[in-house]
Amino acid sequence: MKFKNLRIFGGREKPVTPDFSRLPQHIAIIMDGNGRWATARALPRTAGHRAGSENFRRIATLCNDIGLKYLTVYAFSTENWSRPKNEVDAIMSLFKEYLIEACGELTKKNITLKIIGDTAPLSEDIRELIRETDRLSLGNTGLHVNVCLNYGGRAEIVRAAQTLAQKVRNGELNPEQISAADFSACLDTAGIPDPDLIIRPSGELRISNFLLWQSAYAEYYFTSVLWPDFDQEELFRAIADYQGRSRRYGGIEKR
Ligand code: IPE
Ligand code: IPE
Ligand code: MG
Repeated sequence: MKFKNLRIFGGREKPVTPDFSRLPQHIAIIMDGNGRWATARALPRTAGHRAGSENFRRIATLCNDIGLKYLTVYAFSTENWSRPKNEVDAIMSLFKEYLIEACGELTKKNITLKIIGDTAPLSEDIRELIRETDRLSLGNTGLHVNVCLNYGGRAEIVRAAQTLAQKVRNGELNPEQISAADFSACLDTAGIPDPDLIIRPSGELRISNFLLWQSAYAEYYFTSVLWPDFDQEELFRAIADYQGRSRRYGGIEKR
């Protein structure tokens, strides 16, 4: 594989253990590299998506086990509709499979599952399953998982602007008084803290329309490992790397 030995940020090869007493509150992951993972094994791209969705289950379980509060994963972007129909159909049927499975597990595992993005164009059976997972998530206090499905940061910002414009038109809001908090409250992630750490596997150094508003002060971690291979060791390395950083938010180092 082209990127096998390349680490873009991160560096250390030996396993590292993060400090579990000061985990980031919210980790977001761009689950990228499924296609290349499959191609490298002479498999169809859809096999890569299956491997990717299995890895999502493993990483979400791990995040729940270590006591993470919020995990957001980028699963399907507003731009991914441009892929061949058979690939899109395969991805949608993997979602359906996952949602059916989640319905049986959320309560048992105390997990909240929220689908983020514009669900309107999704098939009615998927939308019905989303309503069911919303219902089954109510009152759960363990890991909160956001799955971004038909999600694009720009589309989300446009929808928030439309909501605010509507409020102005209804006389509920004065345009001069619109604050950043008002804006955040109209996003799909309303009520969810901004991500502290955004991880992108697969060697790409871009954000691809993910959490544009929410990532204002996120720490980024890029690795060449492809998503289906991104395991506990990789996650711990990313968290430990994050823990070594100084977040200043435009201020100066606290002494
Ligand atoms: C991420 O893997 C999954 C989706 C975007 C749906 P890709 O399918 O983009 O994998 P690569 O980037 O082609 O390897
Ligand atoms: C980003 O990956 C979207 C998801 C992982 C769901 P892409 O593979 O679609 O992004 P680009 O095309 O490399 O920017
Ligand atoms: Mg990709």
